[in-house]
Amino acid sequence: MKKYATTLGLLLLGLTFLKSQSLHQSVLLQYDKQIDDIIRQMTLEEKIEMLHAKHMFTSAGVPRLGIADMIYADGPFGIREEMQPDGWAGLGWEKDKATFFPTGSALAATWSPELAYAYGTGMAAEARRRGKDMLLGPAINIQRIPTGGRTYEYLSEDPFLSSRLSVAYTQGVQDNGVAVCLKHFALNNQENNRGTVNVIIGERAMREIYLPPFEAAVVEADAYGVMAAYNKVNGWWCAENDLLLNQILRKEWGFAGMVISDWSGTHSTVDAINHGLNVEMPTKQFLGAALLDSVKAGIVSEAVINERVKEILRVRMAIKPIPAEEANQIMTSQPAQQKIAYDVASKSIVLLKNEGVLPLDLSRKPVIAVIGANATQIMATGGLGAGVKTLYEVTPLAGLQDRIGDKAELRYAQGYVPVVYRWGRRTPEQIEKEQQENDIKSKQLAKEAIEIASQADLVLFVGGDNRAVETEGRDRETIELPSGQDDLIRQIAEVNNNIVTVLVSGAPNDLKVVQPISKALLISWFNGSEGGHALADVLLGNIAPGGRLPFSLPVNLKDSPAYALGNYPQGDKGGDVFANLVSESASSGKAKQSESDPNAAYYSEESLVGYRWFDTKKIPVMYPFGYGLTYTQFAYSGLKIEQDTYASDEVISLSVEVQNTGGRPADEVVQVYVHRIDGSVAWPEKELKAFARVSLQAGEKQTVQLNVPVKGLRYWDETSHAWKDDLCNIELLVGASSGDIRLTRKVTLH
Ligand code: GLC
Repeated sequence: MKKYATTLGLLLLGLTFLKSQSLHQSVLLQYDKQIDDIIRQMTLEEKIEMLHAKHMFTSAGVPRLGIADMIYADGPFGIREEMQPDGWAGLGWEKDKATFFPTGSALAATWSPELAYAYGTGMAAEARRRGKDMLLGPAINIQRIPTGGRTYEYLSEDPFLSSRLSVAYTQGVQDNGVAVCLKHFALNNQENNRGTVNVIIGERAMREIYLPPFEAAVVEADAYGVMAAYNKVNGWWCAENDLLLNQILRKEWGFAGMVISDWSGTHSTVDAINHGLNVEMPTKQFLGAALLDSVKAGIVSEAVINERVKEILRVRMAIKPIPAEEANQIMTSQPAQQKIAYDVASKSIVLLKNEGVLPLDLSRKPVIAVIGANATQIMATGGLGAGVKTLYEVTPLAGLQDRIGDKAELRYAQGYVPVVYRWGRRTPEQIEKEQQENDIKSKQLAKEAIEIASQADLVLFVGGDNRAVETEGRDRETIELPSGQDDLIRQIAEVNNNIVTVLVSGAPNDLKVVQPISKALLISWFNGSEGGHALADVLLGNIAPGGRLPFSLPVNLKDSPAYALGNYPQGDKGGDVFANLVSESASSGKAKQSESDPNAAYYSEESLVGYRWFDTKKIPVMYPFGYGLTYTQFAYSGLKIEQDTYASDEVISLSVEVQNTGGRPADEVVQVYVHRIDGSVAWPEKELKAFARVSLQAGEKQTVQLNVPVKGLRYWDETSHAWKDDLCNIELLVGASSGDIRLTRKVTLH
């Protein structure tokens, strides 16, 4: 009997260990034997040298043993210019001009993992040309608030779309010899108080909404690097958050690479090193001499130091160092990457409205008034680390001039005074003086714009935000169009109602004024070096618009969940206590703003982010998640699902016939949402669980295959702290957007 009990005990112990260990085996583990030998040869001082910055964007290798420094490069959509070793200014080189790729929400608007992969290969090619080892990207936080300063940098409000694109981007980068650094891990969803905000969130929403893009990129794409975010999560700084860095990232997901802090985002010595931080950037205040002393004093074990060093050396062994003399030999931006930038931009533009004015008809050589500062505004620079010193950027006006030539007469007026980035503090007098000057200039610009509008056949209004309006470091206060654009377009409409409006923005805008006034309305994003060519090709019908919204466009900012519940901006006095169930907290209204921590950000909407909120609470939106028109129509038919019931380890594979019933080739993004009919826990109304982008010639019909693994429908159970099946009846909703479901089918999970 005793023997039997021992065996059973060992078995249970093994199972427990397995449960806590990830099934994902990183390729980085292959270097461990070699690394153990290296570590045995290293002095403690050499080990400590690797755990903090050597320069602003470099951490040390082991020179004595011929191990190269690790060299990092911003940003998620372009390799940042060469910076001074220890400063924030650029060196003013000539050959470090990079391709400006479309920003995060533009890439997400393509709903194309193939393009995300290509994008990653492009970023890697330019990083290698510059001798960089680790790219500080992709930036994959969930777009929780429309006003987020970096919403444009991130991908989507939806974890499934974000995950699919994060995996592909990571594969594209790492297949081409560069490490990614997934950022910002985790729950860095706002810029206001980003260095102090303490995100208070329930486990289920964290697991089901905010962590999936990071989990997918680690488990499916073997990401080598992660950047710890500035903020706290449930009381712990991300850069020393044992749950996030050791328990979840390493033990559960099998991450074998290295974690760097965000810049100046480290807060301690002992907790940081023990809880999973590998490198303090860009300083050595905590993981330099203080750490060496802590080891010598026996407070920090050398075993932990060896583990942190091993994790860095794994990445170092996987990424070939490029000798300085071989880097920066040719211009960073090359045609192959510029083409990728065009391909992404051309499939990202979202057509929201078209009352028969697009594609533009140039047969009578019309006079087109191109109005708006964004027609000539460079969008590559700005946004601090996300700024790109680009080789060139085709603006909307330049794109039109290139593509239209003499087939129409283009007349340009700036129309409004754009918001510009102001460094440092200004006195009230300076602000007042600038405001007065702007008012005078605005009146003049508006007058000129109305003048050319009154003499034109068509007005092309190019407005929206810019990189000073949407930027790292601060959130917007509203989603209104800046610089008085609403008033300007009202005045233009009085003299000419034939208006096509293009919004060059990276995050939602309030469309209540421009939507009814415009005969056609598009979002063309901060769309990279080739953005102007892509926009012109769409407007002229050379290509059909192919973007779909990666986020909901609310009617009013206050309709969106964090605002509706008073959870953002912080400091609002809240209502009921912080509940931790989806339906309860959403209906319970405002979360209580605890006096104890004024920086607490209560994510009491839980999983009801974006369309999950609007659909569940039945709040109308201006345009729904996944929406986008094109220059043809698509018919859906013949939804086939093989079984009526599925077990928890099976995959629901479905097929649907999609036909292009119009006269032009175009792409469609077929989307599959899941609605739980009788779930055992609270669920959002529907959730995206599969999608496919297909290109169809006029009249062509295709059978589109889509798969929904039942394990992708689990929920995170906050009692057992584990994923659990909710074996219930579900409805599969197949359609062209979250608000345009064409075919449905019920199946039972058992
Ligand atoms: C910034 C950003 C991060 C960037 C880093 C280096 O503060 O948060 O995304 O990579 O510092 O510039």
